[in-house]
Amino acid sequence: MTYINENFQKLQAGYLFPEIGRRVRVFAQENPQAAIIRLGIGDVTEPLAPAITRAMVQAAQEMGSRSGFHGYGPEQGYDFLIDAIRKHDYAARGVEIERDEIFVSDGSKCDSGNLQEIFASDAILCVADPVYPVYVDSNVMAGRSGTIDANGRYAGIVYLPATEENGFLPNPPTEKADFAFLCSPSNPTGAVATKAYLQKWVAWARKNDAVILFDAAYEAFIRNPELPRSIYEIEGAKECAIELRSFSKRAGFTGVRCAFVVIPKTLTGKTKNGARVSFNALWNRRHCTKFNGVSYLVQRGAEAVYTQEGLAQTEEQIAFYMENARLLREGLAAAGFRVFGGEHAPYLWMHTPYGVSSWDFFNDLLAKAHVVGTPGAGFGPSGEGYFRLSAFNSRENVLEAIARIQRSFGR
Ligand code: MLT
Repeated sequence: MTYINENFQKLQAGYLFPEIGRRVRVFAQENPQAAIIRLGIGDVTEPLAPAITRAMVQAAQEMGSRSGFHGYGPEQGYDFLIDAIRKHDYAARGVEIERDEIFVSDGSKCDSGNLQEIFASDAILCVADPVYPVYVDSNVMAGRSGTIDANGRYAGIVYLPATEENGFLPNPPTEKADFAFLCSPSNPTGAVATKAYLQKWVAWARKNDAVILFDAAYEAFIRNPELPRSIYEIEGAKECAIELRSFSKRAGFTGVRCAFVVIPKTLTGKTKNGARVSFNALWNRRHCTKFNGVSYLVQRGAEAVYTQEGLAQTEEQIAFYMENARLLREGLAAAGFRVFGGEHAPYLWMHTPYGVSSWDFFNDLLAKAHVVGTPGAGFGPSGEGYFRLSAFNSRENVLEAIARIQRSFGR
């Protein structure tokens, strides 16, 4: 008899985005004439920038030669990419990160799901609600929760409601928590943290010997240079925070796969005996055991993001998506929706009309406007009554989606 990991049975439904995909496929089969516009999962639509593809083609050619062939690379990533990250993402903003504090990976989704392995199995997770579902589901799978209650909350997890009243930026918890995910700019609400807000969190973490997992996957969408892009811009954060970054949305790598985690060597946790242990060393051990590195081709592509040409080309794409976000924000507001986000993030967070539930609005929007979005409830119970639209699509589709929403729901 082989027993299963019964923690999986605590999960309520399938993972959010495959569930949306399933519903859309059913609708498309039943309505083959419908021209569906997908603003659901935040998947990029612009092709890779020329600087990136050129670097990857060149890397492929190198790999096809005896002298340029690369087998297994360093699990943590090649120095050429790590140094580009250190220089452009950190030193340029006054933050010194050492080479061995960066771990290149194949995506922030995997990183945010895997990082929980370096915490005690009874460590208490704290999340905003609504939140990127991976943070919660991966900890439920690992046994860090009880069962789910009628409100959709797992026992043993600390939830911080992100509401209109607090600008979708909840304060640190007052109850005990050992590690907390913070996402800025936020997926799903699009809210962005200020320095003062992050200072509160760093103070909380240091006071409580807790760890912040700062998910900065959308930092490139921040339009105001005064806003922090890295938690390490906050004094003391290197003693209490891990940072996640991704090339997915910033450079169109959702299908290429490359991201990284930063774990300062000054960040430690404790054993039950009271000894201090470096989380960097634990993650390095985990990374080397379970991961064989991102391919050479992909890392050369990621390195090219930081060239002068790569930076200009990817910034142009980000500006294009952010113009989509502006059009959506204004178009939805003109149709009478209460809309948030979309100013420093590629996501619009809107209130569902007439008090309909977020899944009912999903069905309505699909049926009437043939537009796909993401129900707020899929991100947590406090997402009920809200709906997320992504700005990742062609201009033509975004304008068409706005026109259809205004026709079908305009007030
Ligand atoms: C989203 O739509 O929330 C993201 O695309 C999901 C992800 O990055 O995994």
